[in-house]
Amino acid sequence: MTIKKDQFTYEKSSLFQDAPAREPERQLYFCARVKDLMRARFEENLASGEALRRYGEVQLKQMEESGACATFHIETYGCQMNAKDSEKLSGLLIQAGFMETDTEEADFVLYNTCTVRENANLKVYGHLGYVHSLKKKRPSMLVGLCGCMMQEAEEVEKIRKSYRFVDIIFGTHNIFKLAELLFDRLTTGQMEVDVWEGTSEIVEDLPADRKYPFKSGVNIMFGCNNFCSYCIVPYVRGRERSREPEDILAEIRRLASEGVKEVMLLGQNVNSYGKTLSTPISFAQLLRRVEEIDGIERIRFMTSHPKDLSDELIRAMKESKKVCTHLHLPVQSGSTRILEKMNRRYTKEQYLALVDRIRTAIPHISLTTDIIVGFPGETEEDFQDTLDVVRRVRYDSAFTFIYSKRSGTPAASMEDQVPEAVVKDRFDRLLKEVQQIAGEVCRRDLHTVQAVLVEEKNSHMEGFVTGRMSNNTLVHFPGTEDLIGSIVNVYLEESKGFYYMGHREV
Ligand code: SAH
Ligand code: SF4
Ligand code: F3S
Repeated sequence: MTIKKDQFTYEKSSLFQDAPAREPERQLYFCARVKDLMRARFEENLASGEALRRYGEVQLKQMEESGACATFHIETYGCQMNAKDSEKLSGLLIQAGFMETDTEEADFVLYNTCTVRENANLKVYGHLGYVHSLKKKRPSMLVGLCGCMMQEAEEVEKIRKSYRFVDIIFGTHNIFKLAELLFDRLTTGQMEVDVWEGTSEIVEDLPADRKYPFKSGVNIMFGCNNFCSYCIVPYVRGRERSREPEDILAEIRRLASEGVKEVMLLGQNVNSYGKTLSTPISFAQLLRRVEEIDGIERIRFMTSHPKDLSDELIRAMKESKKVCTHLHLPVQSGSTRILEKMNRRYTKEQYLALVDRIRTAIPHISLTTDIIVGFPGETEEDFQDTLDVVRRVRYDSAFTFIYSKRSGTPAASMEDQVPEAVVKDRFDRLLKEVQQIAGEVCRRDLHTVQAVLVEEKNSHMEGFVTGRMSNNTLVHFPGTEDLIGSIVNVYLEESKGFYYMGHREV
């Protein structure tokens, strides 16, 4: 098939035939092909003066210096998994000749969507309206949608029908194919939709563009098998799949050699890591092996499901010199009755007993959580149980959510959906309690010296930098940019509720 597009003629079939069948080679091939196409466009625009009008002098210079021939912008919604996926997508785009910009006025704008609650969806549609107005002014612009929302057939249908200006749509299972999809779109001129229902494939060794040079997320598993009755994640992220430990360790060793000091091991339920591998390994065993990697000084992980948190893991955390003194342990509700309807598979008492075991082993640990209010059938008594757990555990912080009905999940068809006004009132009471307690517990380290990983220049206070303690609390203190990425000792002078002001102890 010969395709004529943008004045260039391609033998599409031969280009696809030439593509290696194996990954990641195949995607690197498509990155190179997309780059050829974008370069040809760019050179034409340079010659006509359009490039200068489009990018302005400063950006054009940056592009020429970095060898880029187009710009991209990714808007990322949702959790750490999506943030990590966006780093991989950026890596592919850079390989394909694109340079990142911080606004949606770019040659390619990609929305990496989330659908965990309804307002996450609504935000995306808001942005689509805006980007449409940009595309009207610059028709050659490309718009893409990916991520969890695209795994929902009805959303994809709506976009196909009412948002015809969108160029590519793909899901959570094939992000590695971005360059191939772009190539397809550029050569056929048609909206490219490629959403997979699931996959057993994990493509390793693709480029990633890390947001921070000194810390990085590392996927250890994908998907979720828990099917909490309110949650859409298992439907949009597919079944649980663990990466091979050797692949994970090789990635972390490489990160360490590039200067990364802190890794965050990512999975929807890290405590069930490794159970389905051909040579099973526990999460605690994996942690111990990550611990051995020179150069890595801090290890974090997200998220732990209380039902799978083993004593072996508590021991590994206690004995570790690198695992941070912070654990995110979503409780969701304090009522055993509601927990059962949520399919969480633990009771209030089991959760509290687990917290006790953790605190006995690691007394100074910071605990944080997620809580949903207004789950179908939640009574004032159930809600009081949630408040009771909050008061007993005394979390450093809690993410509180109003229950959001997700179609296709079992909870969506449950009777007794709680009236909005009742939920709002409970939400406000919960938030007040959470904040009051957090303000009290967060000051526990006042007037001590703590190791702080310096993350950035403080944007509000000239001459200050901001860093993070092992327990995840932020500290602001006088310092210069060259400290970014190093771990320094800081005296915590003043507690401001959720963060500290301090000064460096040399
Ligand atoms: N895998 C993680 C959480 C993933 S989603 C875990 O099991 O803890 C992040 C949080 O979003 C959840 O912990 C839950 O509190 C919240 N959440 C998920 N579905 C929701 C819904 N339908 N309505 C409101 N909050 C929800
Ligand atoms: Fe959702 Fe439950 Fe899986 Fe977490 S463990 S992603 S809340 S289904
Ligand atoms: Fe959202 Fe998907 Fe994460 S639904 S919370 S981005 S797994």
